Formats: sequence, structure tokens, C-alpha cells
Amino acid sequence: MINKKSVKDIDVSGKRVLVRCDFNVPLDKETGEITSDKRIVESLKTINYLIHNNAKLVLCSHIGKTGKNISLLPVAKRLSKLLGREVRLITDLDSEETKDIISNLKEKDVVLLENTRMTEKEEANDLEFAKKLASFGEIFVNDAFGTAHRAHASTEGVTHFLPSVCGFLIEKEIEALDKDINSPERPLVAIIGGAKVSSKIGVLLNLLDKVDTLLIGGAMAYTFVKAQGGSIGNSLCEEEKLDIAAEILKKALDKGVRMLLPVDNVIATEVSNNAKIKVCQIDDIPEGYIGVDIGPKTIELYKGEIEVANTIVWNGPMGIFEYKAFEDGTRKIAEAMANSSAITIIGGGDSTAAVEKFGLESKMSHVSTGGGASLEFIEGKKLPGIEALLDK
Ligand code: 3PG
Repeated sequence: MINKKSVKDIDVSGKRVLVRCDFNVPLDKETGEITSDKRIVESLKTINYLIHNNAKLVLCSHIGKTGKNISLLPVAKRLSKLLGREVRLITDLDSEETKDIISNLKEKDVVLLENTRMTEKEEANDLEFAKKLASFGEIFVNDAFGTAHRAHASTEGVTHFLPSVCGFLIEKEIEALDKDINSPERPLVAIIGGAKVSSKIGVLLNLLDKVDTLLIGGAMAYTFVKAQGGSIGNSLCEEEKLDIAAEILKKALDKGVRMLLPVDNVIATEVSNNAKIKVCQIDDIPEGYIGVDIGPKTIELYKGEIEVANTIVWNGPMGIFEYKAFEDGTRKIAEAMANSSAITIIGGGDSTAAVEKFGLESKMSHVSTGGGASLEFIEGKKLPGIEALLDK
């Protein structure tokens, strides 16, 4: 079990605290406006705690990819509004002016360093750059769960120079993705979907040691169906993963995990809202048709499993939910989870997007802020940004 020191375990009063947030928020391509401030809002608990406890806050984050040089100015503006106090953006980390600003910070002041990915040294986990960032604080608080799977200068490098603890968001993510999955209230049901078996092999293998029931959906189901000898028409199939799919099915059997594949599905002649669609058995898809969503019988079957679960973890959509015509399976599974009294955990970018699209976020116990990070966490991998923090 992961047990890291948190911001509550150290004295922050009067200290300069470097806080790594994940402010990698989506921006409108034309206006540059923030289109979802979920990640900013999720970081407020830690920031407000530090303000309340008289720290001097130096926030940092990346936004976008290296080389894109996107500014965090819209984030500084949104944060100023949300906090009701000025959050100044520091653009030049090397200037004398910056040195002055940082050394003259007063208690409760908040500044934000410009996008850490303005330099390639961030992703290279360059020690000198990490040292520079660390020089702005006396304590390091990592609250960037979404970036915790990256060993970058601002996530891992800085921990070599400062006492490092986690913030409340990382603590909450660990609670949900570690404790609730590793010592769950049983039955524990995992719903795994998405397009490819290849991107979920690690997740499936790790979950086979933990779950009571595994429900498979999304296009990855077709590789399993084909591995069992079914006809999948023109549906997506990873031929080179047929062996591992068969192996996973066998492992589930050996371990006594009930691994369910869809029994029926929605098929279409093309991926378009105007396509000709019908419903058929999952292993009897005619040529010329593509599987695009789980079918009504499967929805009922999976809803029955959700009803008896005490913990449910969901990663990956059931169909191509971005299209209205193919969203039913994903929406109904999300609704069943929202109506369940079980602990409900949503991990992974696409399932989070689906839950947001259907307006069900507030009805889930935990919707992870991490895409890649939550996937790696559920795979059982150690996340460098968390590993590097002080143990309790
Ligand atoms: C994310 O959006 O998943 C995190 O902010 C990490 O971003 P990255 O995939 O660009 O490292």
C-alpha cells in the first residue's frame, strides 16, 4: 500500500512552497480560452490549505507538449479569479527580477512559474533545471497526479533537492486507485473497454489478480471474440494479439475470475451517425459490418453485474460514444454506475470524457484527473512522481 507524507505532515507556515500542479488544461484552438478547468479546480484544496497556513506559494506546471511553447497565462488568470487574489505569472526563471519577486514573497502570496515545458530540460529531467526550480522553494509539494507517471525535472528531479510530500489531490487519487482497488469492498467488478487489447494488456493482467468479475467492452472485445473462433466481420481486431487474448481468457478461468465478453453488439456499415445499423450476436457479424457498441442484451447483463458489486472500476468506453448513434452502451453503463451504491472509480481519459459528456461526474465516487497516469497506476506500475515523495 502506498503511504506518502502529505502537506499536512509538515510545517509550511512562513515557508516558500514549490507546488507542482497539473494545469495541462484544454484550450479552445481559436480563442485560447480554457474549455475545462477541472484540473485547476481539483488543485484548489491544496492551494487553499497552503494559503490558509501562511505559506508563500510558488506554483508550477506544464501545459501542452514540449516545443509548442503554450503559455500558462490563461491559467494564471483563471486561478486569480478562483482564489480571489492575484496570481502573477513569472515568465523568466533566470532574471534578477524573478529572484527579487521570489525572495520578497509574503505569506499567502501566490505566483505561477511559466510552462515548465518551455525548455527541453523539463522532459530530460535535467538536474540543473530541477535545481533551478527547487531554488524557488524550501519544500516541494507534488499535487500533479496527471503527470505523476513522468519522471521530469518538475515532478521527480526537484525531489532530490527539497523535502517532498504530496498534496490532497494525489492523496485522494491514491486512496481511490490504490486502497479501493487493492483492498476493496467485494465484489470488485472491473469494466474494461476501449479500442485496443494492446494498450490494456497490463491493466487486464494486473486486475486478474484483484477482481471478482471482469466485464469487457469496446472494440478490444473483438480480438477476444476472434481468439475464441467467432466471426467479427470487419470489426477492429489486433491479429498479433490473438494469442495474448486467449492467454488472458485462460488466466481468468484459472484464477476463478468471471470474465464476461459482450453477447451481442450494434454493428454498422461505417462509422457515421447516418450509417445503417443493426444488432446481432457478437460472434456472428456479417462481412461488411463493423462492431461499434455493445448490444442491449449485453447492457442488461452488465447492469446486473454492476447492481451486485460493492466496488466498480471503469476504464475505457463500451463503444464509439463520440457518435450519438453508438453511445448507448457507454451511456447506460455510466448511468448504471451512477445509480449504484457501490464505490465507483473512473480512470482513464476516455471514460472520464464519457462521464463528463453524460453529466454524471458528481454521481461517481472518484473520477481520476489522470489519463496515462491512472492507466499506469491500475497496471500496478510505480509512478515516479509519487515514488520520489517522502514515506510516512
Ligand atoms: C495528461 O494530460 O495526461 C498529463 O497532463 C500528462 O501530459 P503528457 O501526456 O503531455 O505528459
